[in-house]
Amino acid sequence: MDAGKLLSLVLFLLQPSQHTEVVIIHDYTVPDVKEVVQFATERWAATTILTATPAPDLSQLLVALTSFHTNDLRYMVLLCSANTTWTVFDMVSRHNLESRRLRWLVVGEEPDLAETLLHIVREGTMVGLAARVTSDLYTMHSSYVDHTNQVRFQEMGIWKDESGDGWSGSLHRPLFPDIVDLYLNFQGRQLVTMAKDNWPFFEVKILEDGTAVAGRGIDVNIISTLGHYLNFTYRVEVPADGQWGGVQEDGTVTGMVGEVASRRAHFAIDEITITASRETVVDFSYPYFFDTTTLVSRPPAEKNRSLAVFYPFSSFTWITVVLVTLLMGPLGYLFSRVHHQLTQTFDSTHNERSRNVGPSFDSGRIKWGSEPGLRGVEMFCFNMFRTIIIQGNLLPASSWPLRLVFFSWYAFCVILYAVYAGTLTAYLTKPSFDKPINSLEDLLAARERGVVAAVTSGTSTETIFKVVERNTAWISGMVSLEIYAIRYLGENYHLSLNSFYPQPYGIACPPGAPYTPTLNLVLGRMVQSGLVDKWHRDEVTKLKQSADKRMDEGQGGKSSVREEGVTVKPLALDHLQGAFYILGCGALLAANVLFIEVVTHYLTLSHSNTRTL
Ligand SMILES: *[C@@H]1O[C@H](CO)[C@@H](O)[C@H](O)[C@H]1NC(C)=O
Ligand SMILES: *[C@@H]1O[C@H](CO)[C@@H](O)[C@H](O)[C@H]1NC(C)=O
Repeated sequence: MDAGKLLSLVLFLLQPSQHTEVVIIHDYTVPDVKEVVQFATERWAATTILTATPAPDLSQLLVALTSFHTNDLRYMVLLCSANTTWTVFDMVSRHNLESRRLRWLVVGEEPDLAETLLHIVREGTMVGLAARVTSDLYTMHSSYVDHTNQVRFQEMGIWKDESGDGWSGSLHRPLFPDIVDLYLNFQGRQLVTMAKDNWPFFEVKILEDGTAVAGRGIDVNIISTLGHYLNFTYRVEVPADGQWGGVQEDGTVTGMVGEVASRRAHFAIDEITITASRETVVDFSYPYFFDTTTLVSRPPAEKNRSLAVFYPFSSFTWITVVLVTLLMGPLGYLFSRVHHQLTQTFDSTHNERSRNVGPSFDSGRIKWGSEPGLRGVEMFCFNMFRTIIIQGNLLPASSWPLRLVFFSWYAFCVILYAVYAGTLTAYLTKPSFDKPINSLEDLLAARERGVVAAVTSGTSTETIFKVVERNTAWISGMVSLEIYAIRYLGENYHLSLNSFYPQPYGIACPPGAPYTPTLNLVLGRMVQSGLVDKWHRDEVTKLKQSADKRMDEGQGGKSSVREEGVTVKPLALDHLQGAFYILGCGALLAANVLFIEVVTHYLTLSHSNTRTL
């Protein structure tokens, strides 16, 4: 091929690329390449020339294939022998370098070049081929994937010697059609999608002969709708390890992500979270669903109400009340005593009553002033206690200071009593609960109560039963948590009010997959029209209905009671246990004191007996 002809052919092939980067790869089999190289260097600013003698310098080619500074397309012009061309495409396959931004232009002198390329080129490598028919005629081909998923070349036009006028060519369709348009019709191809059984997103049913088919689920709806619009069917395959997978520390890629990364599947859709590390090995579509992480835990237990009588006040308040009550007795005594001393000093007449500090009880009746001052403190303490439990005061308020003390004490007691009684009623009638786990902070606090945090490993069902049996808080995506909780726990769960760490779900496609933009286009329409949300709601509603039905059947007529909400229940014994405790403790204390008194009595008796003896 002479130099002018080659240049003319290359220019014809590069026609639509006015402002793009061009990489020219040539080897010794094309001796007249100098002119093309010179022209290309002058015409396109970003031109890389790679000499492939005997094979292209792989490291340099790798750089040319992977380094993109703009979103521009990069044209790779291959002017090599069939063997070198094969080596280049073999390297692209082995390094997974298919890219939507690369367009390959191959000029082939060998007649069987197209046949050779079909065995090595994979979907995602867009090749335009100028194949020599005779020295005067070249046919233009472009690669596509047919309905059996095989890469094929189809003829797009010719380039021939117009005797005298030089060379000219014509294309009836562009060599590189718009990639989004191209994949708007998959021509009924059957694609392979990876999925694992993960309802509500993707239910996988295994038939008797071992084939997997899609059941129902949000993602099943998405992929079926995509297939309907884009004219493809799909076959489900389950990853061998049954995991979502990702890049492991040793560099291997596992699970569904691994299958897609190695192009054994056309895509994977099944609640796959878009993460940075997965992005390095697969291409993700736009996120079609945003889920947040949240917690499901046992419903907060109702507080034990046996000690409800103590709930109205905090322990500090209780201590203060007890101290104040204990102090009031001596205070009243002090006032009364000082007053008594003063009146005695001023009042020279020996009035019996004025010498007495307080009353004393004698066989149930109040007797005034018989034992001056001796039992005063006890009487004051006891009466102050009577007042605080609204039992009335039996002490006469004989002086103004004492009256004022009593006045303030009565007022204090009334307020305290009203507050206590009201709060106690509220505590007894309204059930109170332990603090529910509503956030990660709550979970941290709940760990002291023995709650364990769990995440999915193995099956989700296993995890949900841990929530009930072993008091676990399960951390996972909101959608699956809610669905699992409704399905297996009925109403017996608490879904945290707070959520955190939103996760986008996307379709994983092989790196450089040419159909990702088309999937994005249709997926975007589905998300914007609210279809994905609708499918999500549908799954939840269906489930709730069936759960309600189950519960109704199980409970018979009881369901109406449940709907009425909180019913007013009579106070059970356990509500009042606290009161009984106090009574019991008091009786026990009294018995002990009595016992001590009896013992002391007999000891004194025997002692005096010994003395007498
Ligand atoms: C092409 O490669 C094959 C084997 O890989 C070899 O036998 C053949 O000689 C090569 N042809 C040229 C022209 O280098
Ligand atoms: C889908 O693909 C089949 C197979 O190529 C084709 O016959 C059919 O016309 C296509 N359907 C649409 C709606 O384009």
